[in-house]
Amino acid sequence: MFINILILLALIGLALGFGWLTRLAWRSHNAFAKWAGSLLSGLLTVVLLLVGLLAMKGLVMYYTPKYTPAPNLTIASTPEQIARGEHIASAFCIDCHSTTGEFPLTGGVDLADDLPIDLGSFISSNLTPAGPLQNYTDGELFRALRENVDEDGKRLLMMSGTNVRNLSDEDMLAMIAFLRSQEPVQHETPNPPDAPNFTALLLFGAGLFPDKELLQGEIVAPEKAATAEYGAFMMTFLDCKLCHGENLTGGDSPIGPAGPPLTHIKGWTEEEFIATFRTGVTPNGNQMGDLMPWRSTGRLDDVELGALYQYIINQP
Ligand code: HEC
Ligand code: HEC
Repeated sequence: MFINILILLALIGLALGFGWLTRLAWRSHNAFAKWAGSLLSGLLTVVLLLVGLLAMKGLVMYYTPKYTPAPNLTIASTPEQIARGEHIASAFCIDCHSTTGEFPLTGGVDLADDLPIDLGSFISSNLTPAGPLQNYTDGELFRALRENVDEDGKRLLMMSGTNVRNLSDEDMLAMIAFLRSQEPVQHETPNPPDAPNFTALLLFGAGLFPDKELLQGEIVAPEKAATAEYGAFMMTFLDCKLCHGENLTGGDSPIGPAGPPLTHIKGWTEEEFIATFRTGVTPNGNQMGDLMPWRSTGRLDDVELGALYQYIINQP
């Protein structure tokens, strides 16, 4: 972060320098030096100032996230809660919080590796009780999942890019019960986990990670069944749309990973859809690559996958 501030200061210094040059050129008695010189250095001054302002905005946004006080929580930690939390973790969180795609959730995956431009490093945390979660109260952990800030209210950049915040309140409590119940595994992950570079701050200032509205009130899941309604709810917290596009017509994010359109799933049966995630092979015989998290998605049960299927085939 220190180096980013240095770059920012250097940039502002340069902008001032070019501003001064513009003034010099403007006073020149030579017509060419006057017009060409002041146009060129004037333009450079404006560009440098704009870049500096955006980066400064990014820096300020990064350090002043919005969040509410952590709630006071007591978690019953019933066996049902622990099992439910483990189920969600195995089908979702595990993709980023394990280097092997299997438990334990010891983190250590640098999400920056998947990006087409260098934005610094964003290394997923060890979520076992031996990692940073030992410093969180249950309420702070709830807030971390819902508002994507750490125990001190500092922004968790990659978490805020996911849909984890839309898990129902009940699933959040189950998740916390499960996270606490795990065997502690020693595995050092960086603290703080995020090290955005100057480009990241610039994009941040330009709205790459827009501040999301804080969610108000309780989130209640509809009844679990293989229906489009339950599928729509699952789509709010799974990340399918981040890759396959808001309408599942194919990903279009310039920096994020892109997935193909899912419109042709209408031609598949529900059994074929479920088998696709259990085996990694689509009905057309395409073996899916590693970018598609099919192993974890395949850990969803038949009712949940059935619900996703119903949702997808009922898209207009
Ligand atoms: C797209 C990848 C991704 C997914 C999916 C994901 N995480 Fe994370 N998580 C990260 C990264 C990377 C960090 C490090 C901070 C950051 O950049 O957000 C992190 C940080 C965290 C932290 C903060 C720990 C600390 O260091 O203070 C918690 C808590 C957490 N994740 C829980 C979860 C849970 C629970 C799920 C599933 C419901 C989940 N995450 C799903 C990538 C992910
Ligand atoms: C990180 C990005 C990413 C996420 C998240 C993601 N996908 Fe994918 N998906 C892909 C990519 C990339 C492919 C192409 C895989 C290949 O052919 O190698 C794919 C392929 C698929 C296919 C096969 C399409 C075909 O006919 O080949 C289905 C079905 C699918 N995804 C459904 C889902 C569902 C449902 C979810 C949410 C649970 C999801 N995806 C989440 C990136 C993603």
